[in-house]
Amino acid sequence: KRVVAFISGSGSNMLTLAKACAAADFPAEIVAVFSDKPDAGGLEKAQALGIPTFVFPRKDFASKEAHEEAILAELDRQRPDIICLAGYMRLLSGRFIARYEGRILNIHPSLLPLFPGLDTHRRAIDAGMKIAGCTVHFVTEGMDEGPAIVQAAVPVLAGDTPADLAARVLTVEHQAYPLALRLMAEGSVRMENGRAVATETG
Ligand code: GRF
Repeated sequence: KRVVAFISGSGSNMLTLAKACAAADFPAEIVAVFSDKPDAGGLEKAQALGIPTFVFPRKDFASKEAHEEAILAELDRQRPDIICLAGYMRLLSGRFIARYEGRILNIHPSLLPLFPGLDTHRRAIDAGMKIAGCTVHFVTEGMDEGPAIVQAAVPVLAGDTPADLAARVLTVEHQAYPLALRLMAEGSVRMENGRAVATETG
C-alpha cells in the first residue's frame, strides 16, 4: 500500500513509520512526505531515507483553498492508498477529507475523547490524570473526533512536567502508529458508517 505522510515538525512519527515500512513483511511503503513548513526537521530525515519530499509553505498561497488545491494536486499524483498525518499542525477541509474518506489517519497525543486540541499534556496534568497516552484515529471533519484505531496509555507520575509526559507519550506513539498503519494496510480495519470496524480477513 502507498502511503503519503504529512508533517509540520520533527517528524519522529513519520520516521518511525518509515522504519516500520522498511521491514520486508510490512504491507506499506511511504512514497512521499509532504510538509507545510520548509524548516520541518522531518524533511531532512525523509530525504536521508531517500523518500521524496514536497513542501507547501502556506505563505506562498493566497488562500487556504489555494494552498489545499496545490497539496491535493500533488497528492493525487502520488496515488496514495493511505495518508498518515504525523505531527501535521493544520486542519484539513471537509472537501479534502471527503476526497480521501476513510483513508486518512492521524495521531493525537491524548486518550481521546479526552483532551482534543492542543497542549494535551499540560491539560492532563492540570486535570490530575494518573494516566495519559495517544490515539491513532481516522480523520473526519471534526477535529480529533474520528473513530480510534489504536490507543496506548502511560502513567502520569508525580512531579511530571508537560515535557516529561510528552516524552513518555511519544515512546508509545512510536509503537501505536506502526501498529495502526499495519492494520490499515493489511485490511484488518476500515472505517464504516463513521466507526472503525475490524474486517473478517483481519
Ligand atoms: C507528537 O506528540 C504527535 O502526537 C503530535 O505532534 C507531536 C510531534 O510529532 N501530533 P512528530 O515528532 O513531529 O512526529
